[in-house]
Amino acid sequence: MLTRVFGPIINSSPALKRAVWGRWYQFLARSYKNEDWTFMNYGYANLDGGDSAPPLYLQEGDEPDRHSILLYHRTVGDADLRGKDVLEVGSGRGGGSSFLARYHNPASMLGIDYSESAAALSSKRHTAPNLSFRQGDAENIPSPDASFDAVVNVESSHCYGSMERFLGEVVRVLRPGGQFLWVDMRPRGKFDETREQFRGAGLGMLQETEITGNVVHALDLVTDRKREAISKQVPKFLMPYFEDFAGVRGTRVYEALKAGDVQYWRCALQKPTD
Ligand SMILES: C[S@@+](CC[C@H](N)C(=O)[O-])C[C@H]1O[C@@H](n2cnc3c(N)ncnc32)[C@H](O)[C@@H]1O
Repeated sequence: MLTRVFGPIINSSPALKRAVWGRWYQFLARSYKNEDWTFMNYGYANLDGGDSAPPLYLQEGDEPDRHSILLYHRTVGDADLRGKDVLEVGSGRGGGSSFLARYHNPASMLGIDYSESAAALSSKRHTAPNLSFRQGDAENIPSPDASFDAVVNVESSHCYGSMERFLGEVVRVLRPGGQFLWVDMRPRGKFDETREQFRGAGLGMLQETEITGNVVHALDLVTDRKREAISKQVPKFLMPYFEDFAGVRGTRVYEALKAGDVQYWRCALQKPTD
């Protein structure tokens, strides 16, 4: 249902957007507590002669999630998170924050998500000395001013009522010179508005890349695995909705990405130093 109405929702009122996405993710976290499902993004795969992520060696246990992890790895790009205080907003089931905590070695890694159940699930599932999770709203981040060196945001901002309020919060919690590392989808032509919102918030653009082709390639590679997992875990009448949500081949969101009607962007931005 959700991606079937992706277009209408993304253009709907802030209150409706918050309500629909908030209930959906709370429902998912409450109803599906399986510990092996730790990512909810569409993933990223390198393209021959196209955009590519830095090489990434993964431990065996992380290999099944390689493409979702690569989306995080590409989001971070060449930002150095070692020894830094890092916040992820919209951390979902916690797989991304756990990857960053274990492979990019920040001093501290905090994941916040609007869904209380997702934050609780993440705390239970992922443990590392530098990693923690809590419930929190992107539009009202529960952290003091200037408390992070980097904010990471993966495939989540399309759910927010107000992008401007979110960006105001990002700038507030970042230290001067801190980086905002962002990836998400926008309908064709709408990214110009997002770029303007970044500029309006006072964030300087360091890198901007359209990665739609990489995301579609990842969806192609993981479609069979996602279909199989959905057929095992979801009642038959809900399967089309879960397949839509997962963006498997043939669904509307997959076709929209493939046709370029929905585009996927990656940006690295910086809060000014003064
Ligand atoms: C598509 S999932 C991506 C999760 C995770 N980043 C990943 O890649 O696996 C979007 C997430 O954004 C969260 N979210 C939606 N609105 C939010 C808000 N206002 N504040 C914080 N998180 C929010 C949802 O609960 C959901 O977990």
